[in-house]
This record gives sequence, C-alpha cells and structure tokens, in this order.
Amino acid sequence: MATLLHLDSSGQSESSVTRKLSSHFAEKWQKANPGGHVIYRDLTSTNVPFASEALIFAMNTPPEKLTAAQKLLLALPDELAKELLEADTYVLGVPMYNFSVPAVFKAYLDTIVRAGTTFSFEGGYPQGLLKNKKVFVVSASGSDFSQPPLSSMDFLEPYIRAIFSFIGLTDVTFFKANGHNEAEKSASLSTAKSSISSHFQPVVVS
Ligand SMILES: Cc1cc2nc3c(=O)[nH]c(=O)nc-3n(C[C@H](O)[C@H](O)[C@H](O)COP(=O)(O)O)c2cc1C
Repeated sequence: MATLLHLDSSGQSESSVTRKLSSHFAEKWQKANPGGHVIYRDLTSTNVPFASEALIFAMNTPPEKLTAAQKLLLALPDELAKELLEADTYVLGVPMYNFSVPAVFKAYLDTIVRAGTTFSFEGGYPQGLLKNKKVFVVSASGSDFSQPPLSSMDFLEPYIRAIFSFIGLTDVTFFKANGHNEAEKSASLSTAKSSISSHFQPVVVS
C-alpha cells in the first residue's frame, strides 16, 4: 500500500509556514493515492531523545543482548525508524533555524541514522539501506537563500541532502518559502503551494 510519512518540526503551530506546506502536500498526496496510508509524526510533541551515553550504547548492542531498560530506551527510536522503512514517500516540514535544521530534527536524525537499520558498513564502505523512496522537504526561512551571497549560509539543504544520501535517500525535492513579514510570507507560501499542486498535476501528452 502507498504510504506517506508526513512529519513536522516547526516550533510554531497555527502560524507555521512549513506546517501549512506539509499539510498541503499531504492533502494532494491523499487525493492522488485514495487507498494510501498516512503516518503523521510531529517531532515537537514526540520527546525525541538526545544521543546520551545510554542511548548510544543501546543502539550498538546486538538485539539479543538488550536489557529490558535498553529495550525501553530504544522503543521510540525503533518506532521512528520503522515509520521510515514503512513509508515510500516522505514529506518533511523543516524550517530553517540558525542557518540549519531545528534541534528537534537533528535529534531525530541522530536516532534514525543507525548502523544496521538505515545504513551498513558492510565491506568497509557505508551503504544506505533505504531504497526506492521519494523525499519532499518543505522548508521556510526569513531570508531568501537561493542566490549569493546568502546561498553560502544555507546549511539546511546541503546538510539534508548529504545525510539522506548517506542512508540511501537520493531522490530529494525541496519546496521553499521565505519572508520577513506577513505579506512576503503569504505571497511566498502561495507560490510554494502552487509548485506542490503542479507536482501532482497529471502530465498531458499532446
Ligand atoms: C530559532 C529560530 C531561528 C531562525 N533562524 C533563521 C535563520 O537562520 N535564517 C532565516 O532566514 N530565518 C530564520 N528564522 C526564521 C524562520 O526560518 C521562519 O520564520 C520560518 O517561517 C519558520 O518556519 P515555520 O513558519 O514553519 O515555523 C528563525 C526562526 C527561529 C524561530
């Protein structure tokens, strides 16, 4: 069954641009995939654990040797990884915070980029284990980072592309909006929504 992972990481709720964009994408995806299944994950209400000594140790312990306490510690990271494995399409709402991703999204990456689950080092080389999945990142920022000189300060898109490619996710499309005030944000939001809508429009062959 076609499965979409719809994830948000904005600290804002009603006023969030990325939440509006990810919802718009999910709505269009559901129309295009009527029998599809959507997994929704809001990282801001998930209590994603930081990579503590105990968590790192548990992540590197073979499953058959895990204690009950370690199993408990791994329950949420395992569930987050399962969602990634289960879905074939992801729409990820990731606002720019201080030129990069929100801390909660980084904590998420620190739990899902896991040897044996999303990548392997078999043969001495890193290999991504997530295959044939499409990733759509909807992002928002105050400034427009599409042109120099600000483009050199955009650590969000190159970072997401690098870490996702490490786990096998190379089909990554970004939809972005920006603006410092309501008028700019609203204009940019509607342009980004139109780009998302166009993505779902059937290609007409003449
Ligand atoms: C903690 C924080 C850091 C931010 N850092 C940047 C930044 O580095 N560059 C930028 O252009 N905008 C920055 N912004 C503005 C947000 O990217 C912008 O408001 C965006 O719309 C947030 O996404 P959201 O509307 O989905 O919450 C920051 C906002 C916050 C709250």
